[in-house]
Amino acid sequence: MAKSLEERGRTHARLRRRFLKFVPIRSGECVLEVGCGTGVVVRDLAARVGRGGAVVGIDASRRMLDRARALCRETARRTRIALRVADGASLPFAANRFDAALAVTVLLHVADPLRVVREMARVTRPGGRVGLQDQDFGVVAITHPDRSVTERIMRGVAERFYEEPHSGRRLPGLLRAAGLTDVRLLTDVYQDTTLEPWTKTFLERRAERAVHFGIVDVPTAERWLDGFTAVVAADAFVLTVNYYGAVGVKPR
Ligand SMILES: C[S@@+](CC[C@H](N)C(=O)[O-])C[C@H]1O[C@@H](n2cnc3c(N)ncnc32)[C@H](O)[C@@H]1O
Repeated sequence: MAKSLEERGRTHARLRRRFLKFVPIRSGECVLEVGCGTGVVVRDLAARVGRGGAVVGIDASRRMLDRARALCRETARRTRIALRVADGASLPFAANRFDAALAVTVLLHVADPLRVVREMARVTRPGGRVGLQDQDFGVVAITHPDRSVTERIMRGVAERFYEEPHSGRRLPGLLRAAGLTDVRLLTDVYQDTTLEPWTKTFLERRAERAVHFGIVDVPTAERWLDGFTAVVAADAFVLTVNYYGAVGVKPR
């Protein structure tokens, strides 16, 4: 998981930076990231807030944070970074402490996302921003000769693996329900036409999980993965995943 997050960090850098600009995150700000994982976003945030700013990352997983501490050590020489174990549904911070609070590809994994967004709003100062970014696995396009198996695997795994596979399209509504105003939406698309290493791992994981959830048997999963070889050889491969970024302002 940690390795895949770092690989995604490399392939999705443009998407992530566009979102941070959209929020926007400015020099000198104090920013919270909920569900920081290995610290991919924390490092980008540190570059944006600079020496005068500060970044706090929290994650429910101690192991993820251990990786994040190692990977953020160099960046922490230039910008104040604090990483701690915490649950996004119950943040260990006083009200109004941050200029902005973000959750990037986290809420789709969360059973009660509104509770997390309310907590993010509580710890954000009046006039500050709450920013959310998630994929929406109801909107994935993949070229493969067997459409029906592709659909079964992609839809079946997304429905079982994520708390809310359609999280992306729900983000503006969640921000409004949490009391935020001036809500804006940025729709972005990750696209790959060459079957990059991250995409390959993503599809292999989908196949493994489809077997694990009993959606297809092992030979079908293997045939499905093999099916991509001819598509790539014909230079016909396309994968797109939609990312939705939404931001709202805490009323003064
Ligand atoms: C897909 S990773 C995203 C990591 C990072 N934001 C990024 O984009 O690279 C989701 C992270 O959210 C964390 N997480 C899930 N539910 C959480 C919760 N309720 N509170 C805090 N962290 C949570 C997981 O442990 C995991 O590290």
